[in-house]
Amino acid sequence: MPTLNWLTRNEDVGAARRVPYRLLEELPDLSAGDATTGNLLIQGDNLEALKALLPFYAGQVKCIYIDPPYNTRSAFEHYDDNLEHSRWLAMMWPRLELLRELLAEDGSIWVSIDDHEVHYLKVVMDEVFGRSNFLTNFVWQKSYGGGSKAKWFLGLHENVLCYAADMSRLPELWLPPDPKALKKYYKHKDDKFDERGPYRLQPLATTSMDERPNLRYPIVLPNGDEIWPEKQWQWSEERTRRALLNDELVVSTRSSGKRVVSYKQYYRDESGNVRGRKPATIISGHYTQHGSYESMALFGLQDKFSFPKPEGLVHTIFESCTNAGDLVLDSFLGSGTTAAVAHKMGRRWIGIEMGEHAVTHCAPRLRKVIEGEQGGISKAVGWQGGGGFRFHRLGPPAFDADGRLRPDIRYGVLAAHVWFSETGTAWRRDAASPLLGVHGGEAIALLFNGVLGDRRPGGGNVLTRATLRLIRERVAETTPGFDGSLTVYGERSRLMPATLERERVAFRQTPYDVKARA
Ligand SMILES: C[S@@+](CC[C@H](N)C(=O)[O-])C[C@H]1O[C@@H](n2cnc3c(N)ncnc32)[C@H](O)[C@@H]1O
Repeated sequence: MPTLNWLTRNEDVGAARRVPYRLLEELPDLSAGDATTGNLLIQGDNLEALKALLPFYAGQVKCIYIDPPYNTRSAFEHYDDNLEHSRWLAMMWPRLELLRELLAEDGSIWVSIDDHEVHYLKVVMDEVFGRSNFLTNFVWQKSYGGGSKAKWFLGLHENVLCYAADMSRLPELWLPPDPKALKKYYKHKDDKFDERGPYRLQPLATTSMDERPNLRYPIVLPNGDEIWPEKQWQWSEERTRRALLNDELVVSTRSSGKRVVSYKQYYRDESGNVRGRKPATIISGHYTQHGSYESMALFGLQDKFSFPKPEGLVHTIFESCTNAGDLVLDSFLGSGTTAAVAHKMGRRWIGIEMGEHAVTHCAPRLRKVIEGEQGGISKAVGWQGGGGFRFHRLGPPAFDADGRLRPDIRYGVLAAHVWFSETGTAWRRDAASPLLGVHGGEAIALLFNGVLGDRRPGGGNVLTRATLRLIRERVAETTPGFDGSLTVYGERSRLMPATLERERVAFRQTPYDVKARA
């Protein structure tokens, strides 16, 4: 596969592995609202912040939207294109690698970028995310016109490069129908599926798809009549039979006598998701000017953020690829647009911003959102306020210079690192039991900080026959019939090596045997 080369490429590929895992420390004074919502605002360099998130969120993020600084000449007094271009690529590469690790299997990443870098970024993202996972390059119409100071062209657009984490796992993307279309097309109502809303009739036959012989079959009506498609149906025979039984098909007869089969396309599908329009590859209607007005309304003319994205643009992105409750992430948060939009749409969010505006803009903006701020997309989504977030900064490294975990670490943090180093996946369970979970035929347990209720020094942290029995009971409860090996992390083991071998238990000593996952 063709790849891109730049001055420091060899160092940059793999740089993410060398970034230390840091702890995240909450600043309660800057947090706001309900602390249990899971929303996180992090101030710090996103390279370290993304790495700190891995043990807790690897594979969990449904949508990443980022708007990194563009590599514009205006930012540099003495611009050396070769050097600055390399620096920009060096900045992007390791961050993209970490973002890929955080993305859920059915997730997607969307990156705003201008014309100068888009083609370089495309080649880099092809390499990091896989060329076959490229979805599209959205053209975002950023402006509706304006003066003509430019010498050659009126620059009216930017790009949003979009990749799936894994194309084969990505669900269909849909936008809800616009309200006018809803009235015009969704005219029918069905008492049977009240919760799915009104429906429109769509032809089941298609001539535009590639020919697939298994989609050419007769639909047999209750009276025994058979209807054949001109070329083929859109659905498998099994799906069509189910629809017939469910009363989801309508047969009408044209004046020519030809019988046509339509299916009822409901406003909501069987899972409750709204299907309307396919997201178009040109996004218009949300302009930079809107972003500036929104920022001015939030912060005043003096303190408004320069060129924030309009809430409507981020809304369109989240609307097409996420559902309520999904986790979304922006690691170049700027003035907090992504977090504000996610919050108003009922998505869980993580926002990372290294500038002081994390404190002066993002946190106050999100506090206003919690209080029911009515700018941006608020009216469109019926936002009334509520929720909360926790503000964090980066703390000390979780591992010392020899790669050993700090001994003063909390149970939940240690559990996440133990689990992540063993499985490469995020630990998202409760800390009430020493069993962290079962993964790929291996059970993993952690005895630490009196997790068994005994808070004396060393109490409950030692592997004995009694603690082993307790762990085994928990494994049997959560994974009946489990027959794999068991790895136990603890302060000490009182079991003889022969017993450990017989019981198929691998003992690892905390904190020394907990190693950072590269
Ligand atoms: C173009 S702005 C994003 C604007 C944002 N989309 C909005 O609507 O407000 C890029 C942001 O990324 C931040 N940034 C740049 N490098 C960063 C890094 N290494 N870690 C965290 N934030 C970074 C900058 O401080 C800036 O606020």
